[in-house]
Amino acid sequence: LVTAGPTNEYIDPVRFITNKSSGKQGYELAKSLFKKGFDTTLISGPTNLEITKDINLIKVETADEMFEATKKSLPADVAIFSAAVADYKVKNIANDKIKKNDELTINLEKNIDILNYVSNHNSKRPKLVIGFAAETINLDKNSKDKLISKNCDWLITNNVSQKDIGFNSDFNEVFIHYKDKKFKKEKLLFKRKSEISEEIVDRIITQIN
Ligand code: PMT
Repeated sequence: LVTAGPTNEYIDPVRFITNKSSGKQGYELAKSLFKKGFDTTLISGPTNLEITKDINLIKVETADEMFEATKKSLPADVAIFSAAVADYKVKNIANDKIKKNDELTINLEKNIDILNYVSNHNSKRPKLVIGFAAETINLDKNSKDKLISKNCDWLITNNVSQKDIGFNSDFNEVFIHYKDKKFKKEKLLFKRKSEISEEIVDRIITQIN
């Protein structure tokens, strides 16, 4: 199971809050898993990407929809959460297009954390739960904190303050923290997202065998 892409959180019928995720990293992970023989489900927020029909693609738009699709897709042996899920949604979505005023106040409320839900869902918890972290500062500390607080087995971090990697690039540079190796850190140097994905999937195969 792989989540990918951004989510759209509606303000009114024609406007939404989103982020810069293109879905490329998640789609490459799904392709690499499928190539290595995994029965693969890709739950994707809105992207312009295409993928082979052999991969079970579930298209969603909001974090709530991604959450429902994820729950329906369990159990899974391995789950990778590469989606950039919006942390907040609009509290009261306007039924009609909001009229222009001098100021506009939008109240937000927290979205459910999909990764957190799955990693703590005892009966259906995948054997291997892999989170991603998009960070700009304190990468090491924030990654370890996220690995623990989200109960992941691995946490893959990218520095999204660098323009040539991370969001909406064909390239990435990530490091992996492993819980079972006492938070040992391994760095995958600047590479195409397809190559990073292949390397991650090779590590998954070693881990689960
Ligand atoms: O899509 P691309 O353009 O290829 O870019 C790839 C990427 C930069 C989006 C990807 O590599 C990445 O870092 N994805 C995670 C982005 C993110 O939202 O990170 P986060 O640190 O805010 O969230 C931590 C983890 O919790 C992530 O695994 C995220 O999927 C998950 N999460 C977060 C919030 C939420 N409500 N539910 C979640 O499941």
